[in-house]
Amino acid sequence: MMDIEKRIEELLSQMTLEEKIGQLTQRIFKGAEIEQMKEFARKGQAGSYLLGSTAFGSDVYQERPLIGLMDELQEAALESRLGIPLIYGRDVIHGHRTVFPIPLALASSFNPDMIKKSYRMTAEEASDDGIHWTFAPMLDVSRDPRWGRCIEGPGEDPYLGSIVAKSIVTGFQGDNEEEYKQRQHLAACAKHYIGYGASEGGRDYHRAEISDYSLRNYYLPAFKAAVDSGVATVMSSFNEVSGEAVTASEYLLKDLLKTELGFDGFVVTDWGAVWQLILQGRATDRKDAARLALNGGSDMDMEDNCYWDYLAELALEGKVPIENIDEAVRRILRIKLRFGIWEKALSERIDYDSELHYDQSKKMAEECMVLLKNEDNILPLKKDAKIALIGPMVNARRSLLGSWTLDCEPDKVSTIKEAILSQYPEVTVYTTNEESYDNMISMIYECDTVVLALGESYLMTGEGKSLAYIDVPKEQEELVKKAYALGKPMIATMTFGRPIGMQSIEPYLKGIIYTWHSGSMTAPALADILFGKVNPSGKLAMTLPRVTGQIPLYYNPPRASRRCNGYYGDPNPINYQDVSGRPMYPFGYGLSYTTFEYSNLTVENKEISLDKINNGDKFAISVEVTNTGDVDGMETVQLYIHDKIASMTRPIRELKGFKKVMIKKGESARVTFNLGYSELGFYGRDSKYNVELGEFDIYVGGNCYADLGDIIIVK
Ligand code: GLC
Repeated sequence: MMDIEKRIEELLSQMTLEEKIGQLTQRIFKGAEIEQMKEFARKGQAGSYLLGSTAFGSDVYQERPLIGLMDELQEAALESRLGIPLIYGRDVIHGHRTVFPIPLALASSFNPDMIKKSYRMTAEEASDDGIHWTFAPMLDVSRDPRWGRCIEGPGEDPYLGSIVAKSIVTGFQGDNEEEYKQRQHLAACAKHYIGYGASEGGRDYHRAEISDYSLRNYYLPAFKAAVDSGVATVMSSFNEVSGEAVTASEYLLKDLLKTELGFDGFVVTDWGAVWQLILQGRATDRKDAARLALNGGSDMDMEDNCYWDYLAELALEGKVPIENIDEAVRRILRIKLRFGIWEKALSERIDYDSELHYDQSKKMAEECMVLLKNEDNILPLKKDAKIALIGPMVNARRSLLGSWTLDCEPDKVSTIKEAILSQYPEVTVYTTNEESYDNMISMIYECDTVVLALGESYLMTGEGKSLAYIDVPKEQEELVKKAYALGKPMIATMTFGRPIGMQSIEPYLKGIIYTWHSGSMTAPALADILFGKVNPSGKLAMTLPRVTGQIPLYYNPPRASRRCNGYYGDPNPINYQDVSGRPMYPFGYGLSYTTFEYSNLTVENKEISLDKINNGDKFAISVEVTNTGDVDGMETVQLYIHDKIASMTRPIRELKGFKKVMIKKGESARVTFNLGYSELGFYGRDSKYNVELGEFDIYVGGNCYADLGDIIIVK
C-alpha cells in the first residue's frame, strides 16, 4: 500500500508556491469556458472544480455533469508539471438520478442500515457521472422549522444526528481505506460546520448565539461522529457562532475540529464564504479575507478565488506563513491520495441496477413516512373504498422529490393520483384536475372517505427558503374546513419538507400521514401505506409544533426552574396563555397499524463505579416489546436518559439508544441497550467531557414520552 504521507511530502517538496495555491483553489465548472479551464488545469492553477453553476444548487436547474468535457479538463490537469488530478465536487444530497427521501425524512426512518444502503447506491450513480466528492452529509441539527434548510439535516437530536452521520459517510465512502479508493465510492463532506442550524429566527445565514457548552453537547456530536467515521472533508458554514465567523475561526477550525477531534482531511469553505468575511465585518477586503480564512484553518476556497488572487502576495509579505499553506496542501493531497483520485481521475461508466435503486427508494420512503393519527382505525383504507382525492398535492410531481436534487428524473415520478389509480384499480377515486368548489362538493357527496393531499412545493424548502409562518397554509386550512362541513371522515397526507404547525386542521382529521418529500417513490410508497400493503413505521426526527409561535420547541431542554415544562404536559398557562405548551406531535413519535406493549424492563448492575464506567463498563438495559395487534409491524424502541443532578443543567430527556425491530403479530422481542461512558457523559463548564457521579433516570418506549423507567447509579 502506498505510503501516502511520504508521497505527500515528495509532491510538496517539488511544488512551486503557485502550484500550492492552485491546489487550494476550487473553481466553478462552466462548460462554455472549457479552454480557459484547461489553461488553469494545465498550469496546476486549480485543485478542484465544483460541478454546479450556482450557490442555490438546491432548486435552480443545473447542467448535468458534462463527462466529456470533464475528462478533457482532467487530461489537461494530468498533463501539468506534477500531474495532480482535479477532484470533482457536486451537491449529491439525498440521491442522484434515483432520489431518496429528504435527509430529515431519512432520519425519521430511524433505520441506519437502510440509510447507508441508500447512500451506497447514490454513490454508484454519482460516480458513474464522474463525480469524486459530494457536499454531503449536511449535519446541522436544528430546532427551528422556519429555517428552510432543516429539511437537509438529521432533525433536532444530536444522538440521532450522530447515527445518521455515520450511515451517510460510510454509505458514500465505504468502511475503510481500501474501499475509499474504489470506483463508486465518493469522498464525503460534513457540512455546514458549525451551528448553522441555530440561525436566529430561522433566518438563513444569520447569527447563531451558542455557548461552548451547547456547541459541544448539541451541535458538535454529529460532526464528531462524521470525523470518527473517516469523513474526507468538512465544509465551513456561512454563519457566525457567538461572534466567530466560522470560515476564519482558528478556535473552531483548528483547535476544535482539527486538533481536538483529530480531523485530518481538509476544510472547504462554503460558496464565496471567504470574501463574505468582508460582509461579516471581519475582513477589510478580499486580500484580508484570504489571510484570515487560510490562517484560520479553511484549506480550500470555494468559488471566489480570494486564495488564488492574494495568497502568493500574502506569503511573500509574511502575513500568511508558508507552513499554513503547506498544511492546507497536505490535507488536500491526503484526501486525493486516500480516495484514489489519480486512479479515478478519468470517468468510467460502471453499470448499476437502476430498478434496484428505485425499489430501495420506495422501501426507504415507506420507512420514513409517519402515521400521526388513526382515529377509529380509519386507516388502512379498504380495497373497495370510495375516496375523494382532493388538495394541492394530488397531481404534484417534481415537489415529491424535495429540494437539492440536481440530477433527478422528474419524468419517472408518479403523482399521488397516478400511484393510487395504478396500484389500486379496484378503488373508486373521485378526483379532478381542476380545483373547483363545485367539483369538490360533488366528489365528497359520492365518496365514503375524503383524502386530502396537502403539502408544500419543494421550492418552499432548502437554501434561502426560510418562512416566518410555518402553520398549515391558509388556503389548505380553508379546504379542510369546507370539506369537513360535508360530513365525511377525512384523512390528510402531509407532503411537506419541513415540520409545520397543524393545530388549525388536526381536529378535523381522523387520519394523518406525514409523507415528507420522500423522493422518487413518494407516491407509490404512500399508496401502499394508505391501503395497508405496507405498515408505516416512521418516527418524527423533529418535533411537530402546534403553531409557529411555539418555536423553538424541542424535546430535550433542561428541566425548567418552575413547573413549566409544557412539552411534557406541565399545565398552562405558564408556557403560554393562548396555546398549549405541548407539541402537536413529539420527537420520536409515530404510530403503526398494529400496537406494541413494553414490559419487563431489566437493568443489570443498577450501580457501577465511575472508575469502571471510565474503563468501559456499561449498564445493560433490556425490555420486552410485544406486538399486541393483528398485523406484523416494525417498532423503533427508544432509550432515553435524564441526568438528575449534575454540575450543569441537563436535558429532561436525552435519546441515547434506539433499535428498529420487526415483530410479528402476537409475538414479542427482547431489545437490549448498553449505556456507558459515551452515553452518560457531557462537556461541562470546563469544556471537558466527563461522566459525573449520581443517578440517571432511564426511560424506554416508542417516543420521547416513554414512561417505562428505572434508575441507574454511577457511584
Ligand atoms: C451552497 C450551500 C452548500 C452547497 C454549496 C455548493 O451555498 O450552502 O450547502 O454545498 O453552496 O453548492
